[in-house]
Amino acid sequence: MAKKVKSSWTCTECGNTTGGWFGRCTSCGAWNTIVERTDAPSAPDRVVLSQGDDVGRVFRSTHAEDETKTKPRRTTSIRELDRVLGGGLVHGSVVLVGGPPGIGKSTLLLQACAGLAAGDATVLYASGEESVSQIADRASRLGAKHERLLLLAETRVESIVEATKSHAPDVLIIDSVQTIYSDLTEGLPGNVGQIRAVTAQLISYAKSSGVPVIMVGHVTKDGQLAGPRLLEHMVDAVLSFDGDEARALRMLRATKNRFGSTQELGVFEMTGDGLSPIENPSEAFLTQRDNAATGACVTSTLEGSRPLLLEVQALLGPSPGGSPRRTCVGADPARLAMLLAVLDRHAGLFAVDQDVFVNVAGGLKLTEPAADLAVLLAVASSHKRAPLPADLVALGEVGLTGELRAVPRVEARMAESHRLGYSTLLVPHARKRPKAPKGVRLVVCRTVAEALDAAFD
Ligand SMILES: Nc1ncnc2c1ncn2[C@@H]1O[C@H](COP(=O)(O)OP(=O)(O)O)[C@@H](O)[C@H]1O
Ligand SMILES: [Mg+2]
Repeated sequence: MAKKVKSSWTCTECGNTTGGWFGRCTSCGAWNTIVERTDAPSAPDRVVLSQGDDVGRVFRSTHAEDETKTKPRRTTSIRELDRVLGGGLVHGSVVLVGGPPGIGKSTLLLQACAGLAAGDATVLYASGEESVSQIADRASRLGAKHERLLLLAETRVESIVEATKSHAPDVLIIDSVQTIYSDLTEGLPGNVGQIRAVTAQLISYAKSSGVPVIMVGHVTKDGQLAGPRLLEHMVDAVLSFDGDEARALRMLRATKNRFGSTQELGVFEMTGDGLSPIENPSEAFLTQRDNAATGACVTSTLEGSRPLLLEVQALLGPSPGGSPRRTCVGADPARLAMLLAVLDRHAGLFAVDQDVFVNVAGGLKLTEPAADLAVLLAVASSHKRAPLPADLVALGEVGLTGELRAVPRVEARMAESHRLGYSTLLVPHARKRPKAPKGVRLVVCRTVAEALDAAFD
């Protein structure tokens, strides 16, 4: 990054400033008194933590006050968003919301603005992407117009910070960090130096004023936040917003959170009136059908504090090319290859030479090994061309020796399965047998072979 270094030449005798080095001062006539002084280069990406009197002082931890006790979190009135944030916006925090174009970031934030304004906060929504009338138009459609929601179309960060002085917002929204530039550094908006400089100024503003700042960040084609990785280190929380375009489902989760868990999942549906939270995500992720289908297995995965039911689908077919393909949507191909090898070695089910397609319905990603057994059973069901029982939910991590390993929080997953009408649970053996709700049949298995026998009884 180009740093502007300014030099000046001054006479040590009379203080006269000259345009360059001279042997003799042009003002007082003294010889060899002109010296060069270099101004420290401006530091556009230096963060000023706070103007409070606690910066730089060492405190005994028992005497230091807890932030959340003195300054409670601010809720956005969007429950799913508040939960992902860890219970609302923290005083002086900087949150980055990333996601692909058109997924609904501006919509989400404008709706959050409305909730904040209704809760007595003044919100400044600064956009470098849309004109004030375009934002107003969207706000009308979302029912987000409010006396305390202020709109600003601006791309210069210094002007935005200036505007906060006269309008004293309680929350500042920046849409998006890639369209804003700073005078302190060179280059086009969106380049690495600009993003760092803009973010540093916004962090300094948030930390010194206590006003939470939410910034939108674009993501590149491969799903990474555009800009320096450093950006993610600088901010307090990074939320990622993505989803299944075709089904209008949107998922919000924290990939970093200094003030909360990174496990929570918020689920929304995009409608003509904006995003509406989905109360029962399990119902949204399950395929609506009455009979069991060949190649499908339901499992319960934990998303933060909530268990969620979802369906894993598999399809096997002859591989014409000789090198069989593994195509996964929402599942890990390396994990699938391992499960195929386990099926071959420990269950006598040879599928390694087939093309295998695995799909997680609803656009979710399987992140837990607890879903192994469901993937394995879905593959086996497709291979045998036999459906699994329609009321079956399978849980379990699969080990290389064909053993099933216990999974955490079986009882919560069982309760969710029961709630949605699944009455047979295939679970790994655990030291303590979980308590099944009334009407649920618990089938405990130690190995993959036992699970296959029980499932295709
Ligand atoms: N007038 C409209 N009527 C219905 N849906 C709309 C309208 N305008 C935008 N949307 C929905 O909102 C989405 C764009 O959301 P937006 O918040 O602008 O995304 P982002 O800020 O992430 O690029 C569109 O993909 C569309 O589904
Ligand atoms: Mg937008």
